[in-house]
Amino acid sequence: MNHRKTKTAGGKIGRREFLKTIAITGGVAIGGSLLASCGSGSSLILDLTKPENQPLATVGGTLALDANSMDPQGILLYRSGPASVLAFSRKCTHLGCTIGAFQNGVSICPCHGSQYDTKGGVVRSPSQSPLRQYTAKLSGSTVTVSV
Ligand code: FES
Repeated sequence: MNHRKTKTAGGKIGRREFLKTIAITGGVAIGGSLLASCGSGSSLILDLTKPENQPLATVGGTLALDANSMDPQGILLYRSGPASVLAFSRKCTHLGCTIGAFQNGVSICPCHGSQYDTKGGVVRSPSQSPLRQYTAKLSGSTVTVSV
């Protein structure tokens, strides 16, 4: 048996090729999360001058962040006013599915159809409880989201 080869669905590749693949894959995942924000686990900082965060630069704009270091199901953000941003967990309060981005002021859960408004409130059951809200502070062109 050759210990320098790793078996894959497509056949065998060398150890060096395998490690290179892992490094590239890891880089993509990390880079993707850094596109929208940078975080420390208990807070996230979004730079509104970055293109991917531009929707929050305008009142009424929304942004849906994927899973990140602060929330494994991601975070919904809504620019509620000239100096205010609201942030909510994307975890549905019915049975925990990941809710969609805000569209026309509503986020829909794909599992059983609960709907939430941009204040995190339930507008359609079966969910009975509002979304978990995070603290969000807007300072200049920076939004800081924290627990
Ligand atoms: S888990 Fe979202 S509506 Fe049931």
